[in-house]
Amino acid sequence: MAMLNIEKITSVLRGIEQQVERGNYFPIIGPVKGELLYLVTLLIRPKHVLELGTGLGYSGLQIARALRYGARITTVEEDEAIAEIAIQNFRKAGVERIINVIMEEAGEFIERDQSLYDMIFMDVEKHRYLQLLEGCIAKLRIGGVLVADNVLRSELRSFRQAILKHPKLVSSIIHLEDGVSVSVKKD
Ligand SMILES: C[S@@+](CC[C@H](N)C(=O)[O-])C[C@H]1O[C@@H](n2cnc3c(N)ncnc32)[C@H](O)[C@@H]1O
Repeated sequence: MAMLNIEKITSVLRGIEQQVERGNYFPIIGPVKGELLYLVTLLIRPKHVLELGTGLGYSGLQIARALRYGARITTVEEDEAIAEIAIQNFRKAGVERIINVIMEEAGEFIERDQSLYDMIFMDVEKHRYLQLLEGCIAKLRIGGVLVADNVLRSELRSFRQAILKHPKLVSSIIHLEDGVSVSVKKD
């Protein structure tokens, strides 16, 4: 497997940011929280990452640029047209061999998938977070990390409470923009 071309990845990231700034609105984690996602991925050194909510592929690329040789991402997107755009962006960035896009509803994927992950990034419809939480915890190895976007939003109050008091998690909420949570699965 060839090394990743970080310049190519960065150029596709800037392209998506410009598209979104120009008014082609689509929710992306954005450069500030994206840098945090990159940093967290660097710290975890995951071998296998699960992303729920691919979107245009922006957050997947932020994760990909931190991955070490041999690591990979499985990303799940229920909207086929959006998933096709992400696949094109992954090709442009030269990461298509390490990112597997699954076109499926996240909950259905979690139910049938048998893998364990070192890191899960959750960024789907907000009302699904709490419903998906137990499934995500079950799919994390001990010491694995769940990162969730937008957690300071009012509709994610119950999710915040759930991750902060969950017996299997140690969680912290980072007050950056509309919030990112980082939870480690314990024994
Ligand atoms: C906020 S966007 C993802 C943005 C992306 N993570 C990023 O930062 O570049 C949410 C995406 O999740 C998808 N989505 C929402 N609910 C979903 C679900 N239950 N299962 C799978 N995909 C879902 C939407 O179609 C949308 O593309």
